Amino acid sequence: MNEVGAYTRLAGVYDEIVVDPCYSLWAGFLDAMWKLDAQGVHTVLDVCCGTGLMAAELIERGYRVVGADASAAMLARARSLLGPDVQLIEATLPELGTAEVFDAATSNFDGLNYLTPEDFRLSVAAVARRLRPGGWFVFDLHTDAMMTFTFDNAVVQGESDGNEFVILSDVDQHARTCQTTIKVVHSRDGEPFTETHIQYFHSDAQVELALIAAGFDAVRRVDEYTDDPVDETTLRATWIARLAG
Ligand SMILES: C[S@@+](CC[C@H](N)C(=O)[O-])C[C@H]1O[C@@H](n2cnc3c(N)ncnc32)[C@H](O)[C@@H]1O
Repeated sequence: MNEVGAYTRLAGVYDEIVVDPCYSLWAGFLDAMWKLDAQGVHTVLDVCCGTGLMAAELIERGYRVVGADASAAMLARARSLLGPDVQLIEATLPELGTAEVFDAATSNFDGLNYLTPEDFRLSVAAVARRLRPGGWFVFDLHTDAMMTFTFDNAVVQGESDGNEFVILSDVDQHARTCQTTIKVVHSRDGEPFTETHIQYFHSDAQVELALIAAGFDAVRRVDEYTDDPVDETTLRATWIARLAG
């Protein structure tokens, strides 16, 4: 079975096997919140935009979205979804590859869990430099409950759209890391392959510190793009931060 870098081959089946079908709800949450901003939110930087699923939802709601991602293969999928007019940037965080200033930035479905704690800190600072005063940074991250859940569910098998896959998670709770091996054992359109991904469970204290140091205030967390507070059952927390005005 081919062993390839993260998001090289997975890009081809990502939309079918990896993603929660939640983007419309998530975008609705962002839109409702941003509509209340008296300064207006019109431009959004989608950090780790992947195949463009969130960008598509935001564009449909009237936002101008620029997507940035490290994976050329994921960006190629985003290009076919979003068409030729949307700006897509190939850049590896903490590089963002743009000098534009945005009203808001977002990063969804665990993109920032791929960063080491140091790169997370540097990336938060880089995003802050690309936002106007009072600009928003809204992103999600795995919680400690997700770390425990993943530890307890180390093997997940499934079938979707003709793709059969096995996901093996090796969580080190002390190091707060997870090495995930995704084996597509039967691929609808190609050869079977294996990809290995490393993710980091950032602690709440680390995240808050990075945000405050970068100039964000009014930092809060909610349960996965809802108005519900985070509690011990929350697997994915949505962080909402605004730059000082
Ligand atoms: C789980 S996917 C999420 C994609 C998209 N946000 C979504 O909601 O479907 C994680 C994405 O993060 C990107 N990524 C991982 N590490 C990165 C880095 N250091 N810089 C930029 N993008 C990165 C991957 O290429 C991948 O597209």
